[in-house]
Amino acid sequence: MEFLSNKPLQITDTILRDAHQSQAATRMRLADMLPACEVLDSIGYWSLECWGGATFDACMRFLNEDPWERLRLLRKALPHTKLQMLFRGQNILGYKHYADDVVDAFCRKSIENGIDIIRIFDALNDVRNLEQAIRSTKKYGGIVEAAMSYTISPIHDEAYFVRLAKELEQLGADVICVKDMANLLLPMDAYSLVKKLKETVSVPIHLHTHNTTGTGDMVYLMAAMAGVDIVDTALSPLANGTSQPATESLVATLQGTARDTRLDLTKMSEAAAHFRTVAKKLKDEGSLDPKVLNVDTNTLLYQVPGGMLSNLISQLKQAGREDKYYDVLAEIPRVRADYGYPPLVTPSSQIVGSQAVMNIISGERYKTFTKESKAMLRGEYGKLPGAVNESVRAKAGIAPEEVITCRPADLLEPEVAKYREEFREIAKSDEDVLSLALFPQVAPKFLAWRDGPKEPPKTAEPPKDDPAAVRKLYVEYKG
Ligand code: CO
Repeated sequence: MEFLSNKPLQITDTILRDAHQSQAATRMRLADMLPACEVLDSIGYWSLECWGGATFDACMRFLNEDPWERLRLLRKALPHTKLQMLFRGQNILGYKHYADDVVDAFCRKSIENGIDIIRIFDALNDVRNLEQAIRSTKKYGGIVEAAMSYTISPIHDEAYFVRLAKELEQLGADVICVKDMANLLLPMDAYSLVKKLKETVSVPIHLHTHNTTGTGDMVYLMAAMAGVDIVDTALSPLANGTSQPATESLVATLQGTARDTRLDLTKMSEAAAHFRTVAKKLKDEGSLDPKVLNVDTNTLLYQVPGGMLSNLISQLKQAGREDKYYDVLAEIPRVRADYGYPPLVTPSSQIVGSQAVMNIISGERYKTFTKESKAMLRGEYGKLPGAVNESVRAKAGIAPEEVITCRPADLLEPEVAKYREEFREIAKSDEDVLSLALFPQVAPKFLAWRDGPKEPPKTAEPPKDDPAAVRKLYVEYKG
């Protein structure tokens, strides 16, 4: 095999988003990011993934941080690097479908507050769920990275993804991403897929994988040989395992080759020194379970993505049923087949995962369904890739004629005005309205804390997560 491209390989570093989402339940704080921003900004990455995905929810739910404020401060601290976010099509960052005007408002506000590139995906690869976000990202001047959720099934072969890429290019994608959230794409298949994609579409190809199954570095090397334009890696302190392969290792591997990234390893080592202390802190506070660092070849059998593995561990821990870990892992592919082989990515990974947990813990398959599980079987998330097991659908109480076949968002009336009215009393901005619309359980508590009277600090030092304290730290750091 030979290098099919001689352009420098470009790198997106995920240290500020997917790395800690995958390894440490999304618990990295802004205060842990800002001190490294100056050096990160000087490295010359194609982009830094730093927002979206689970970070928005985690900011408010666990860290007492305003996600919009986080974005604005990252934007200021990273003036030379494109900032990238992960966006779940019509779900935005939430777990249900939102009306087109909410999708539009969210794209607009993301770009206004500092995002350059929006990676838009749909868990089911139903392109009708990407259309509005693609249109809105373009409208507000953002770069559209349309992503294909990679998976393996009787339906998902190479030809399927090549066809899908062509379709996304025609929809206006500026970049096409192969989003392999579970590290299922094997190195030789990556070579073959990237080669085909490069022959078929003319926009850059961006590959995203994890190192869950231990093949991530090899996948990137083979993809680089086949001409992939951009890959996602994470700085070493939060790399590997359920996170991305390490940036430094790939950069060193390609030095002196046709795909030399021309990035500076010394600067990376400086940034890594900072994130090593952050990783230690996350470990000490219990957010980073060392289990996620193991190479898990079970993923190749069960097709369970990294983030889902750590969620599963904590779900079972809470129920006191950690002994059922492997039973649940074995149940997941059975549920997946019954549901028409959805790729396992948010939110379908949570839906299929929770259904599998219930099937095992209750001791009877499909005794109960969550609301979301029923919604998926009813087609509310879009078209499932394959045929659904009709007896399971019947157990969920859904008659065949109740299944939705149109674009699900076509059934939704505009919602922004309604949300504005509903949250008139507590929202201080359009950004707040969006936070409340997406996370109605979490955002009110956060905003009450943010805007309410603060308890006088018990110690001389204010708590780290106080927005004022974070701002102060930023000012000190810049000064
Ligand atoms: Co990922």
